[in-house]
Amino acid sequence: MSVKLGRNDPCWCGSGKKYKKCHEEFDERISYIKSQGHIVPDHSIIKTPAQIEKIKESCKVNIAVLDYVAENIREGMSTEEIDRLVYQKTTEMGAIPAPLNYEGFPKSVCTSINEVVCHGIPSEKVVLKDGDIVNVDVSTILDGYFSDSSRMFCIGNVSEEKKKLVQTVKECVEIGLEQVKPWGFLGDMGQAVNEHAKKNGYSVVREIGGHGVGLEFHEDPWVSYVSKAGEEMLLVPGMIFTIEPMVNMGTHRIYCDKKDGWTIYTADKKPSAQWEIMVLVTETGHEVLCW
Ligand code: MF3
Ligand code: CO
Repeated sequence: MSVKLGRNDPCWCGSGKKYKKCHEEFDERISYIKSQGHIVPDHSIIKTPAQIEKIKESCKVNIAVLDYVAENIREGMSTEEIDRLVYQKTTEMGAIPAPLNYEGFPKSVCTSINEVVCHGIPSEKVVLKDGDIVNVDVSTILDGYFSDSSRMFCIGNVSEEKKKLVQTVKECVEIGLEQVKPWGFLGDMGQAVNEHAKKNGYSVVREIGGHGVGLEFHEDPWVSYVSKAGEEMLLVPGMIFTIEPMVNMGTHRIYCDKKDGWTIYTADKKPSAQWEIMVLVTETGHEVLCW
């Protein structure tokens, strides 16, 4: 918001309308909230209707890839096979798996089993076995636009304890989502997620969060799930971000595998679960773009 637009200049949003007839009032409202001491979004993370359409196309691929994984995932399959499914389906649909070569990540998808919190690297050596819970985190680039979501899968006979963790984290996302509305704050969502996890005796990972997404893989804001209502970034229509809490059965503490530099484990080796959705803030509330 550094360049002050003239009131008769074309609006920054690309609508072609004059600024005074388009986003002037919107910007004034944001400036006022900023003056009250809040963190507010920059124009660069507020998506235009045209961009939203393109991002939705990318999301359609991401959803289809996860649906394809859901149809095919089974006991005895290696995570490398999941990687192949993701690569095949994504490229068949004319898209690119976003993780592949992202900051050196060697595969097309993250597969995180049991005590692996996130960023598990698919491998021929890692085979899904009866009783495992696994997160498959798919991210897609279509025509330069990014999408990102993940689901949990229960393999064979999963213990009631682990099933409850998986179910509760799904509820955390749903309860957090209810808090997403224009002119609210990201912390409203974060607090709701954290409260539901804590109520069930679980802990929420602090160091790794969600993110803005769409024009880039990871954009502002960084999204915490241990935040407080009324804090963190202001939400305005056109923002897109992920809700992707990592919830642990035991301690919230985690560590990164020193050898591969990616895999995140729970410090106590107890199970962790995560679901990830991509949400758009609309004029009236929110729209889930990807799950
Ligand atoms: N998909 C992850 C997320 O939700 C990011 C993974 S980065 C990767 O943000 F390189 F590990 F793929
Ligand atoms: Co993400």
